[in-house]
Amino acid sequence: MSLPTDFFKIRLNSIHPDEPVTFDVYIPLQSRMVHYLRAGDQLTAEKIASFERKFVTSVYVHNSQRQVYRDYVYDRMNSSSLPVAEKAVILRESSMAMLEELFESPEVGPSLKEAGNVINNFLSFMDQEPEAMGHLISLSGHDFYTYNHSLDVCIYSIGVAQAVGYEGAELKELGEGALLHDIGKRHVSVDIICKDGPLDDLEWAQMQKHPEFGLVILDEHEVSEAIKACCFEHHENFLGNGYPQQLDGPEIHPMARIVALTDTYDALTTKRSYNKPMAPKDALLFMKEKLSTRYDKDLLEAMQQALFRL
Ligand SMILES: [Fe+2]
Ligand SMILES: [Fe+2]
Repeated sequence: MSLPTDFFKIRLNSIHPDEPVTFDVYIPLQSRMVHYLRAGDQLTAEKIASFERKFVTSVYVHNSQRQVYRDYVYDRMNSSSLPVAEKAVILRESSMAMLEELFESPEVGPSLKEAGNVINNFLSFMDQEPEAMGHLISLSGHDFYTYNHSLDVCIYSIGVAQAVGYEGAELKELGEGALLHDIGKRHVSVDIICKDGPLDDLEWAQMQKHPEFGLVILDEHEVSEAIKACCFEHHENFLGNGYPQQLDGPEIHPMARIVALTDTYDALTTKRSYNKPMAPKDALLFMKEKLSTRYDKDLLEAMQQALFRL
């Protein structure tokens, strides 16, 4: 069934078991939403296990309780009793639902607005917990869904940016740009995105339009020029033969250069149905030995520092 517009999806793993929830939880049943838990009830480990047996990973919350859910996640992230590894899971899972919405829901506006919140949560988690980045990277999903990919590219990009001195508002902007870089894939057919094999010429031409599709979406919303550049320029490269504009190295926006780098790294280390993922070290070596002319050299070094000193 298509996503109901009065509700937003949350991941079951973003709810801490055996603690009361602060919001009402719904599940879809025969194309309508059924009240499953009321605020104050607990989602026990047994209930979660029973969902898992049915391969259900998400439940729904009414739009009117979006802030309540945000506060719930925020409180978990700031709780002194939760171990950092569990916080990383909650943060990742709560963000993933926002990304699913970003790519699946008919209305892109509400989830676009949520992007800033997601980045704030990541940055404050990294500020508070020195090992946050390590835990987040270890959770990187290696299956190829655009939303997993977007989150991974976002986390890696923040790591690279920090290594070259980004901070504050600029770091947040870069994080948002990375999170939204592939938003144009909303307009590329799912059959092409999930194709089990290499793309033919027509499909490839369609796929290569996603930076332009993305720019059109972002132009309709209040988004900074740097964020738009992350989206529009992340397939440009330093050889001048990228797309869609064939920009030369120095013309590529500095933030888009970071996203271009981490985007490739994530693609190389991600499992697709028709290829094996490279191990992180091999992917980095491959990029340094075979692809280095395509990227900003300093950033390639920074990526090594950011991802491999952990
Ligand atoms: Fe892309
Ligand atoms: Fe991408």
